[in-house]
Amino acid sequence: MKILVTGGAGFIGSHLVDLLLATGHQVVVVDNLSTGKRAQVPATASLVVMDIRDAGLAALVKSEAPAVICHLAAIASVPTSVKDPVTDAGVGVSGSVNLFHAAIQSGVRKVVYASSMAIFGAPQYLPIDEGHPTHPDSPYGLSKLTAEGYLSLFAHLSGIRYTILRFANVYGPRQESFGEAGVVTTFCERLLRGLPPIVNGDGEQTRDFVYVQDIARANLLALDRADNQVLNLGSGTSTSINQLARLSCQIAGFSGALEYGPPRPAEIRDSVVDPRRTLEHLGWQAEVPFTTGLAETLAFFRSGVAP
Ligand SMILES: NC(=O)c1ccc[n+]([C@@H]2O[C@H](COP(=O)([O-])OP(=O)(O)OC[C@H]3O[C@@H](n4cnc5c(N)ncnc54)[C@H](O)[C@@H]3O)[C@@H](O)[C@H]2O)c1
Repeated sequence: MKILVTGGAGFIGSHLVDLLLATGHQVVVVDNLSTGKRAQVPATASLVVMDIRDAGLAALVKSEAPAVICHLAAIASVPTSVKDPVTDAGVGVSGSVNLFHAAIQSGVRKVVYASSMAIFGAPQYLPIDEGHPTHPDSPYGLSKLTAEGYLSLFAHLSGIRYTILRFANVYGPRQESFGEAGVVTTFCERLLRGLPPIVNGDGEQTRDFVYVQDIARANLLALDRADNQVLNLGSGTSTSINQLARLSCQIAGFSGALEYGPPRPAEIRDSVVDPRRTLEHLGWQAEVPFTTGLAETLAFFRSGVAP
């Protein structure tokens, strides 16, 4: 199948492109290389350097005529969205609408959209299921929720199919430290310089870390499953930042003490996904154990090889 991947030069997108190519798909990447890297796009995929807000996007989608679009392009940073909500909304909302509209005009069968657990804001209960109220507490989360709304509205109006996948904290090789779940990369980078991880606050805040190759596999499955479903994607396991820090030290062979810094303002205390609906509708659950994923991530940064 021919698949167009927006954001395919980025962290998650490039792992998805690798998997799509490995499973026999033809891949076109659309990326403006703002955070993505050309070197992360394999030569067997074609790369179009274009912004998803570009007026030429419709003509491109028409000429490429993909069966499915996996939409991952975004400014994937909560702090950046707070500093520059205009650009965040420009890419996350207007860019997404531009893409969805182009997909409908060109008869694309389906859009798989990379959303985020950030749409929920501070959880009212745990684990977070798909029925949990949505109260985003950042422009980034609101952009994601708004784009979700446009996609389901357009599906209703046009018949295009979609799957919305809301990722928890994705981690793995090629992640930059400024991303949504940059804490794993930040810890790895410090440990490889012989420095202890710096934990913000008391470190007892918890997150749901999910390995990037598991997330790529979920996108692959969604090409022809879970039509018109909105699904939360996480491991379903809650890990504290202290646990992450200690495990990272252990894998890196670092025996020094952890360092503690001030808590991050307005940080959510606990977050974990209820993965049951995704298992039922997509046949997906996280498979890579946290220790394995962490060891692979550390090995990637240790090798210093890009991509
Ligand atoms: N990393 C996470 O933990 C996480 C969690 C939830 C959701 N997500 C979502 O997954 C997707 C991928 O995130 P990532 O972590 O790989 O981030 P990333 O920054 O590595 O990837 C985003 C890609 O989009 C490209 N891009 C940005 N703006 C663009 C534009 N206007 N036009 C074309 N391309 C553009 C970038 O160059 C980059 O290659 C994003 O939509 C993000 O919101 C990520």
